[in-house]
Amino acid sequence: MLNLLQLTGKQRQFVELLQGQPRVESLRSLCAQAGFDFNFINGFLRSGALDGYVQRQEHSQQTWALTAKGEVLDGVLPGFPLADRLLQGVGDADTENFASRATLQAELGSAFSLNYGALRREQAVDLVDGDGEGGVAVLKSSVLRAYQKRQAVFAAISAGEVLAEGTASSLEWLQQQGYITSRVEADYSLTVLPALQSLELGDVVTSLTSELILSGQWRQVDLKPYDIHAEVPDLAYGRPTILTQCIQRIRDIFLNMGFDEMSGYMVESAFWNFDALFTPQDHPAREVQDTFYLANPQTLPLPEDAALVQRVKQVHEANYGGQWTEAEASRAILRAHTTTSTARRLHQLQGQGGKYFSIDRVFRNETVDRTHLAEFHQIEGVVVGELLSVRTLMGYLTYFYERLGFKDLKFKPTYNPYTEPSLEVFAYHSPSDRYIEVGNSGLFRQEMLEPLGCGEKATVAWGLGLERIAMLLYGVEKLSDLIGPDIRL
Ligand code: PHE
Repeated sequence: MLNLLQLTGKQRQFVELLQGQPRVESLRSLCAQAGFDFNFINGFLRSGALDGYVQRQEHSQQTWALTAKGEVLDGVLPGFPLADRLLQGVGDADTENFASRATLQAELGSAFSLNYGALRREQAVDLVDGDGEGGVAVLKSSVLRAYQKRQAVFAAISAGEVLAEGTASSLEWLQQQGYITSRVEADYSLTVLPALQSLELGDVVTSLTSELILSGQWRQVDLKPYDIHAEVPDLAYGRPTILTQCIQRIRDIFLNMGFDEMSGYMVESAFWNFDALFTPQDHPAREVQDTFYLANPQTLPLPEDAALVQRVKQVHEANYGGQWTEAEASRAILRAHTTTSTARRLHQLQGQGGKYFSIDRVFRNETVDRTHLAEFHQIEGVVVGELLSVRTLMGYLTYFYERLGFKDLKFKPTYNPYTEPSLEVFAYHSPSDRYIEVGNSGLFRQEMLEPLGCGEKATVAWGLGLERIAMLLYGVEKLSDLIGPDIRL
């Protein structure tokens, strides 16, 4: 609750203004005169901060304004000039009076027919044949007089003046014709109670200066309390995209789980993308329909570790038969998964244990649609150690997805050339009541680990789709809403 003694700014000015006057008839006009924003002050009063000091009574006011149809009339009702003119020449006896049509037409010009039409519609006038000369006869002078009143009211509203008493029937008519419309504006009268008059507003210090601190004066002064609920203006500032925020969140999860981040290369040799991963040289994933091969450079050097290349060649030829060629392994590609980084890391580790992750971009020659792009991100992870099992793998993944809010996972057996067993990962997505595929995982085969120098070790590893997670987390249905130059979330 606001401490009245520590008020500052507009609220304080308002309270000081009230202290000088016991009664306020219209809060609206007070605000207008004193330069306060009515809604702000009204909110201040409604907050209850002045309860017990000020009594507030609502009296709403009806005000009138011209409609678009009223606006175009330029302050003159159709019918009025003629009514006014006729009344000048007409006594109270309604029926006998008429004026020469030619004269009226000359006086009113092009407005004549409009005016005549308006009065005729109310059966106030009619055309008659006089002695050889047509005339306008007054049938009901009361209607003509009503026009005078209507005009006065209409003119007052057009000019924004305060309306006199006794205008109800004119207002009703003007409203029926669609010339004016009513608005109800809330207003309040205030009774300022003695408690407020006698309130002594102290001096409140709103900024703590170095002088106040050095002199020790800060102990004596009344410091305005810091209001953490105060509204501040919205600023349109630059910020990370959703995908970047997602990457940061996932990075934090793995760092907290004790993983180190690893990275690799977007342009890779087929060796690290396929051969080191025990993927046969005639595997369909290697075809140009799936993998982007570079025109320049067309090849990349094989690893300097000639023994590694030799071991990879042997394991391929022993298991798949045929001839394993360095030419195929040297082809330069855009990496199709981040398991390239893992393979490089395993080769570096040479049998040491560790936990590593990466969140990096991969490329596949896919048909682009609302949920597929030719480039996307994978969350790669590998744990190298002893006695690791499918249970370990499921445990890491369950823990990770739980941190993101996916509480229920399912695992399905699948096939990868480099893992055995291999598990596809599905997460339950409650808004759609479905299990959605989120990744692929497994335990690396000996045929892969051995040539890389980690034959003694057990591993669990995974590659998860980042965009899929981001779409589920943020309820995005099209990838193009998440990636690219025009993101409007
Ligand atoms: N590389 C696999 C993919 O892209 C994912 C994976 C990584 C599977 C590690 C098993 C182990 O789908």
